[in-house]
Amino acid sequence: MLFRPKTKVCLVLLQVMEIIEQIREEFPALHQQVWGKPLIYLDNAATTQKHRMVLELQERMSARTNANIHRALHKLSADATDLYEAGREAVRSFLNAESREEIIFTSGATAALNLIASSLVRSHLSKGDKVLVGEAEHHSNIVPWQLACDQYGLSLEVLPVEESGEISLERLSGLLKADNRIRLLSVNHISNVLGIINPVAEIARIAHSKGVFVVIDGAQGVVHDRVSVREMDCDFYVFSGHKIYAPAGIGVLYGRRTLLESMPPYMGGGDMVDRVSFGRTTYAPLPLKFEAGTPNFVAAACLKPALEFATSVRDDVQVREHEKRIVSTMVQELQQIEGLKIHGLPRDLSLKVPIFSLSIEGVHPSDLAQMLDKMGIAVRSGFMCAEPLVSRFSEHGLLRVSFAPYNTFNECEIFINKLKLVTNMLK
Ligand code: ALA
Repeated sequence: MLFRPKTKVCLVLLQVMEIIEQIREEFPALHQQVWGKPLIYLDNAATTQKHRMVLELQERMSARTNANIHRALHKLSADATDLYEAGREAVRSFLNAESREEIIFTSGATAALNLIASSLVRSHLSKGDKVLVGEAEHHSNIVPWQLACDQYGLSLEVLPVEESGEISLERLSGLLKADNRIRLLSVNHISNVLGIINPVAEIARIAHSKGVFVVIDGAQGVVHDRVSVREMDCDFYVFSGHKIYAPAGIGVLYGRRTLLESMPPYMGGGDMVDRVSFGRTTYAPLPLKFEAGTPNFVAAACLKPALEFATSVRDDVQVREHEKRIVSTMVQELQQIEGLKIHGLPRDLSLKVPIFSLSIEGVHPSDLAQMLDKMGIAVRSGFMCAEPLVSRFSEHGLLRVSFAPYNTFNECEIFINKLKLVTNMLK
């Protein structure tokens, strides 16, 4: 009787281990050695590995269904077009967008943000207006706005994050109340450094009450949180395929239909036009108006199996529990290492996703990363393309460890032990 609850817990853990092992089987890249050691891949916030179904579709389309989309009347072109548009429908459904016209394929989240920073600013903002970005933004959510500011006479303002890494809604309200020249807010759903879920729906509500456009960088958000652009009520939401089990070279821009319709094209070329003459050109309706040239149709099609996998793990209670266990173990264990600080630690741990950026007093993050690599553990070090934020914490950058649902609890424990080992060696 006394042992029954423990036995139950053990059984559940065994079940979870089995599920994670089954997931791992679907990712060929995980089953390799580096430096003669089994690979432990903990750099998922930079790029995730690709699901077998994604690889199979990529191979099949490249080898067989290879024809330009939307162009020709032949069978191969029709098949490639169908697969491309099925990718779009998968994205629409995944983001809970109202219509396929609101889903624009780009080459990545970066290209999507550049598109907004050019096309929306040009048509909806005026000289003297201000753009507000979060302090914890990736360079791709800072530099496009700086370019737009230079070109259109705007200025850039920054919404600082609190010591915990969280966004203060009071601070946001205060900034917007104090300055009615702020016309656009662009923040991440989850920072690639801090790994905290931001209250994006609340943020959008506050910004909209002041008539401010809302852009959300969802590169990490799509992986770790449920997204409904209708519930969130943002104006734009962007993400990249390669961070969510799909190939690199494809990204998504969701835009509110009325806004996309009122914006000029970003790039000119084939497929985005209606009629072309030397005197005058008219444009194709959405979404093609923003899809000039031959897109990466193979990668776009691959978003369908990738998002199906992402949805299945996101909705699996046991995978969610596994992720929570990794978060709480990492927080507990890492905090016992002398001189170690986790950057991005909300009071409410349910807001923390398994992305951990660390600094350890007296130890350079690049040394740690290199030594871990020799042990087969892939992590990231440096400024994580978020230099303004990271330089607030450390002049040498940070060490970042980021998990995916295919990472086992055992890998988490190995990482913690090896980190302790190399820290002692380097101190
Ligand atoms: N943005 C990617 C990262 O966070 C490359 O590592």
